[in-house]
Amino acid sequence: MSGLLALNLRQSQPDFLDLPFGTPLAQWPGLTERLVEVQRGLSRHEVLFVNYGTGIYALKELPIATTEREYEMLLALEERGMPSVVPTGHARVRNPEGEEQGILITRYLEASLPYRTLFQQPGLARYRERLLDAMAGLLVRLHLAGFYWGDCSLSNTLFRRDAGELTAYLVDAETTERHDDLGDGARRQDLMILEENITGDLADLAAIAELPGVLDVYETGDHIRRRYDSLWTEINRTETIPVGERWRIQERVRKLNALGFSVGEIELEPSAEGDRLRMRTIVTDRDYHRHQFHNLTGLIAGEKQAELMLNEIRELRATLIQRVDRSMPLSIAVVHWLRERWEPAMAIFAPLLANGGDGAELYCQVLEHKWFLSERAQADVGFEAAAKDYVALFKGKAEFPRDLSGPDVV
Ligand SMILES: Nc1ncnc2c1ncn2[C@@H]1O[C@H](COP(=O)(O)OP(=O)(O)OP(=O)(O)O)[C@@H](O)[C@H]1O
Ligand SMILES: [Mg+2]
Repeated sequence: MSGLLALNLRQSQPDFLDLPFGTPLAQWPGLTERLVEVQRGLSRHEVLFVNYGTGIYALKELPIATTEREYEMLLALEERGMPSVVPTGHARVRNPEGEEQGILITRYLEASLPYRTLFQQPGLARYRERLLDAMAGLLVRLHLAGFYWGDCSLSNTLFRRDAGELTAYLVDAETTERHDDLGDGARRQDLMILEENITGDLADLAAIAELPGVLDVYETGDHIRRRYDSLWTEINRTETIPVGERWRIQERVRKLNALGFSVGEIELEPSAEGDRLRMRTIVTDRDYHRHQFHNLTGLIAGEKQAELMLNEIRELRATLIQRVDRSMPLSIAVVHWLRERWEPAMAIFAPLLANGGDGAELYCQVLEHKWFLSERAQADVGFEAAAKDYVALFKGKAEFPRDLSGPDVV
């Protein structure tokens, strides 16, 4: 194909070889049947969308070095489970003037809404306010994983409705950098850019449409920054809890889950006085728990189930550390957990398992049940008591609940 100098693609994609690569993107209309119009945001670079039946792809024309950099950065974002567009490949092309250009190919983010659409369609009005939380949440997630965005704006974010909420995705990674240890300076810089860009985005929009009251041109950026600050503080807060109130650990995890973050690790260490535990949470990515749980226990569980059980294993480790008064690797705590919690639980569940019950799901339902009972009693009721109570509740019933919310106990 003339004009195409190199094409790097990931596995199982269309080969894109029928596209008129020798011509600048701006001149593609009329040259290929594959172009489609989608809802999209503003951009400095030429961006087109092509349909291959199995999926729609976005093509963006950039200088070669920038293309490769952005491609690598999108891969790094994907690898760490960040909400961002997914890269498919990149091309190096020569235009009729003999200049070399790059083309970045990303998979079109299905059901995504650019902010202008979100503002201009009346039915979407109820999502506008959530936009502040979604943007703050996205930036917190990126920063926790060590990504500096460098160009956070409404135009560089896509929104997706998700069970009544709004999730924000990064769409433009041209200026993004990844650091092993992202300092406060870089985070502050990103927030300054965010405030400035949001003001610009909203001022542009205010010139053509009426903005909803909650989104003032000059105050919205500051609102998002404050929302970011409170999320960041909540996530990184260290808390001390009395040893007898270990159910508070779950309370904190639930609070973070409710904010939309999953907890990868809970660090617990005895405080100097010995009767309290210092707790710090580490927030992480998709599927993190499932993999870690499988590596440690050899058991297979869903992401949410694995998360709950890992929390319990860490809680157990904290108790064991206190008992033996020295540190202990997680793998040793796992041996205790399997012997003292998992295996006895499976014995208690035997009647339900014989009925086709799923061990991990049942175990998690009992964890929930235990949490519920402990909260009600304001004391740790223990797993065995909760498991027996739970099995008694469902004895004789052909069906048992499959959701994680636990039985309705009054
Ligand atoms: N994979 C994708 N899925 C859905 N929409 C996309 C995708 N890639 C790009 N877009 C749309 O195209 C617009 C422009 O893309 P992008 O921001 O990457 O271009 P840009 O020229 O680099 O922007 P800037 O002017 O900020 O440098 C986005 O706002 C988004 O609406
Ligand atoms: Mg952009």
